[in-house]
Amino acid sequence: MEGGADAPLGVGGAYRPESGLERKGKTSPFSLLTNPANRLSYKPMPSNTFVLRGDICYSETPATLVTREDGYLVCVEGVSRGVFPRLPDEYRSLLLLDYRGKLVVPGLVDLHTHAPQFSFHGLGMDCELMEWLSVHAFPEEAKYADARYAEKAYAQFVDDLVEGPNTRSVIFATIHRASALLLMDMLEASGLVCMAGKVNMDRNTPDALCEKDGETSLAETRLWLAECAARPYQNTYPILTPRFVPSCSDGLLRGLGELQKEFSLPLQSHLSENSGEIAFVKELYPDISCYGGVYQRFGLFGEGGRTVMAHCVWCGEEEIALLKKNGVFVAHCPQSNTNLASGIAPIRRYLTEGLAMGLGSDVAGGVHTSIFRAMQDAVAVSKLRQCLVNRDERPLTIEEAFYLATKGGGAFFGKAGSFEAGFECDILVIDDASLTPRVPLPVKERLERAVYLSDDRHIAAKWARGMRIL
Ligand code: GUN
Ligand code: FE
Repeated sequence: MEGGADAPLGVGGAYRPESGLERKGKTSPFSLLTNPANRLSYKPMPSNTFVLRGDICYSETPATLVTREDGYLVCVEGVSRGVFPRLPDEYRSLLLLDYRGKLVVPGLVDLHTHAPQFSFHGLGMDCELMEWLSVHAFPEEAKYADARYAEKAYAQFVDDLVEGPNTRSVIFATIHRASALLLMDMLEASGLVCMAGKVNMDRNTPDALCEKDGETSLAETRLWLAECAARPYQNTYPILTPRFVPSCSDGLLRGLGELQKEFSLPLQSHLSENSGEIAFVKELYPDISCYGGVYQRFGLFGEGGRTVMAHCVWCGEEEIALLKKNGVFVAHCPQSNTNLASGIAPIRRYLTEGLAMGLGSDVAGGVHTSIFRAMQDAVAVSKLRQCLVNRDERPLTIEEAFYLATKGGGAFFGKAGSFEAGFECDILVIDDASLTPRVPLPVKERLERAVYLSDDRHIAAKWARGMRIL
């Protein structure tokens, strides 16, 4: 017996949960789509205080990956007390969850995704950004005016998130207030921790997806915020969501800047993604020297609250300096940047500059919701960048990609994405025993293989803020 962990502990002693492979093929008990009644009956495990034993791995810095084979993660009221090689006496009375032999990592963070685009993910990958928006994204998003359509489609999106490795997401809905609220209700019921935004757009978009004017868009946003405030959300937060500069009038952008300050809200948008988009912004604002300068002009570039900009593929010196000065987060979305022919973001440069940064799936510009896939793509495109753009730019390491997928993106939510003491406990248990070849490997290499080879069926369990989700 070691560290007392085999001794009967707490209520009912050690608990050996079923493995991911035993779950394989089963529908999630929380499947919103297949059994809507589950939404009403869903009750998370009451206790968010426990000890979890397993092969634990988390990031401290981009270069520092901590691994603890057969260690103990202590979660008290949803918050980590740290990871220990032997269980300290003071925690011996807590419920012990025994995941010996399985990988235990922080839940992954998706810093940028579009819930209404999940309905066509994997389709329409033959266009560049601006054409793709007109041909695929806008017509699909217009359908969310119908709340019944939205309810069915969003249920599938939320089901997918529950089944996958992400525990936190920052999400675009559509311009439609009722549908955005439906999405937020479903996210709340899932136990995931999410920020979601009713989108603002009042120009340069098809009539079916264009708000009448800036005033109407702002009034709808205020109503939506009031409705959010009236709901008892614990894990779901509103985030202001101007789609991007080309689709928002000056009045709308200015009004959103004022709203952000008034309510201290977070804000998300797109920045310097694709050459066609950047040319359009230059046409609209010939007097402004960089794209980010437009957001800055209207007080939307980090001055009013926590802000995340997706992509940042083509930022020049001035824009990088602005991102840095204002603490704006970069959501790096490598799969989308490849699919929509946008380019390869200079992530090594951003890491060296110390920019706040995480990874995004950008579904449906990106096909896959899993941030494991975003890690693979982030490493892959960084190698292409070294080959094709700059021999001196070192590619991302697996440690760096894991940091971005967890603690880097988690910082947008506060203390999330790590198991260091004081961090909120989002936990993913991966049963990697069936990954072949079945050879003993150190924890770091098991993590690496899980990133590349595991899928949702290997997820044995997950928690957000110490509450069991799967
Ligand atoms: N820019 C404005 N809207 C979008 C969108 O929906 N997806 C992506 N990738 N870029 C955008
Ligand atoms: Fe996007």
